[in-house]
Amino acid sequence: MHALPQALPSPNPSLAPARIRWLEAPTSDHWLQQAIARPDLLLIDHAHCERKAAGVALQLMFRYPGDEALAEALSPLAREELEHFELVRGLMRRRGLALKPLPAPGYGASLTKAVRRDEPARMLDAFLVAGLIEARSHERMALLAEHLPDPDLRALYGDLLASEARHFGIYWVLCETRFGRETTAARLEELAEQEVQALQGSLSDCDQVRMHSPGVVQPVGAST
Ligand SMILES: [Fe+2]
Ligand SMILES: [Fe+2]
Repeated sequence: MHALPQALPSPNPSLAPARIRWLEAPTSDHWLQQAIARPDLLLIDHAHCERKAAGVALQLMFRYPGDEALAEALSPLAREELEHFELVRGLMRRRGLALKPLPAPGYGASLTKAVRRDEPARMLDAFLVAGLIEARSHERMALLAEHLPDPDLRALYGDLLASEARHFGIYWVLCETRFGRETTAARLEELAEQEVQALQGSLSDCDQVRMHSPGVVQPVGAST
């Protein structure tokens, strides 16, 4: 087991906290401390996340094969996620880190369960869940870009986080053009609550830390 750092590094005031406004609760300091303690695990998990994000985009293109607007939006997104995967892999290789399988946290599976089964609700939910995962990745990468002691890792996360915010926007636009703003926003709010539920609790052991492992600030008034 690795010890957690006693205190977070002082925040850099030039870096505003980045959070897509749809996220219902920010990431906790406890998650960040665990991430700082195990950047190696986070890198390996991050590589898996980038590959999964490409896979999700491809899966949606296969599920709706005649949807040209979807293919035009998601094909470049999938390619970009694979570029991110290769970037992370390059850094891992230089550090002698193998792409070993890691048990995933329950986050993705619990969000997938929230996707309704019948169309067109299934499409709306699948896009919004993919978008929320991008939004959380963006928020956590912004924290890493600010707080990790290792300058190469800070630079990596700083380079990638804008893309993840843009990917949230791509999924949002796909929803808005098909379902309208009101329906999209209402369902996104519901799913954002489930997203926070999926991150409840905290790990006792930083050896289990992942990009999407538990750790959010409790919303005001929430019971623990
Ligand atoms: Fe990515
Ligand atoms: Fe992404």
